[in-house]
Amino acid sequence: MNILAFESSCDETSAAVVTHNGCEFSIKSNIIASQIETHRLYGGVVPEIASRAHTEVISAITYEALETAGLKISDIDLIAVTANPGLIGALLVGVNFAKALAAANGIPLVAVDHIKGHIAASYLLKEGPKPPFLALAVSGGHTAIYKAESYTDFRIIGTTRDDAIGESFDKIGRMIGIPYPAGRGFDELSREGFIKATSNGTSFYSKYKKSDAYRNKDMTLPSPALSDGTLDFSFSGLKTAAINLLHRYEQAGREVDKALFAARYTYEAVEAVAKKISAALKENPGLDLVVAGGVAANSHLRGRLAEVVDKAGVGLFIPPISLCGDNAAMIAAEGYYEYKKGAVATSSLNASALDSIEA
Ligand code: KG4
Ligand code: ZN
Repeated sequence: MNILAFESSCDETSAAVVTHNGCEFSIKSNIIASQIETHRLYGGVVPEIASRAHTEVISAITYEALETAGLKISDIDLIAVTANPGLIGALLVGVNFAKALAAANGIPLVAVDHIKGHIAASYLLKEGPKPPFLALAVSGGHTAIYKAESYTDFRIIGTTRDDAIGESFDKIGRMIGIPYPAGRGFDELSREGFIKATSNGTSFYSKYKKSDAYRNKDMTLPSPALSDGTLDFSFSGLKTAAINLLHRYEQAGREVDKALFAARYTYEAVEAVAKKISAALKENPGLDLVVAGGVAANSHLRGRLAEVVDKAGVGLFIPPISLCGDNAAMIAAEGYYEYKKGAVATSSLNASALDSIEA
């Protein structure tokens, strides 16, 4: 089965062709047109500009995706599109384009939830996860832990009560001069900080807790892991404390060591996720872990979660960095399972800014 998929929920327009041969997926093309340079001028995504930019490129990248795959529209058996959650104007561009293409060519259409799509990036791995499993979604808009009963049925078992982890990296990163989106720059700067704190080129993350930098009271930050027995987080508390820390340094006329500051921030964020994932794995013995979303590219988080999963004796599925961010190949993978379930969309399909996975 040849699947043509679209993703336009935020600041990346993507079209992909993915084939399922009855056993496994193979990515024939995965074209991503990023708008990051445009939004960087404003320090974040401007929704109106995002919608317009999606409209400008969606036809061209569809041709490119088909051409790269060596297929024609008549070879396509299924069209999948992200319908929620995301920026409503941005989503509508993909949904309307996919609807028109499906109707004009008599191809079935399926709607895909963006977060289920991120999780489905792991289904594209050579040996993907088998449900039931736990899934951690860490992105610009989400920080949540899910229990998947099947490839299409998810339940939230933990979530952030306010900001998402990626959004917090972007905001704090911006304050220390890292251009939008700050996640990757934050990751690299934190590595410098961990190495500096431990004077060690290897195992720097695990040695960090014993370092003088960690004991420095001026750099203390709170954990975003709520200690109320739930699997929930609060990233706004960590973010506010970090902003206050930067202000305190500024008022005292002291220069903050940005690398050590970034390392401390990353450490608290990553340890909080590790703590809640350990608890979730304990509550659900034997279930494997799938990690998904843009922040799944974070090198410190990847390393730490590998330790947690190892200790729990279960499997870890993380997509390669190239499939962690927004892309349409992951939407095709989820679309395949939605179609198998019989969830074909009608011409009344609409986009929605809201999550469809319930607690
Ligand atoms: O999944 P995604 O591409 O878009 C949303 O659905 O939100 O995630 C984007 C987020 C941004 O906040 C970006 O800064 C973050 O992922 N990100 C990272 C890294 N690479 C991207 N955060 C931490 N470390 C990274 N290496
Ligand atoms: Zn995303």
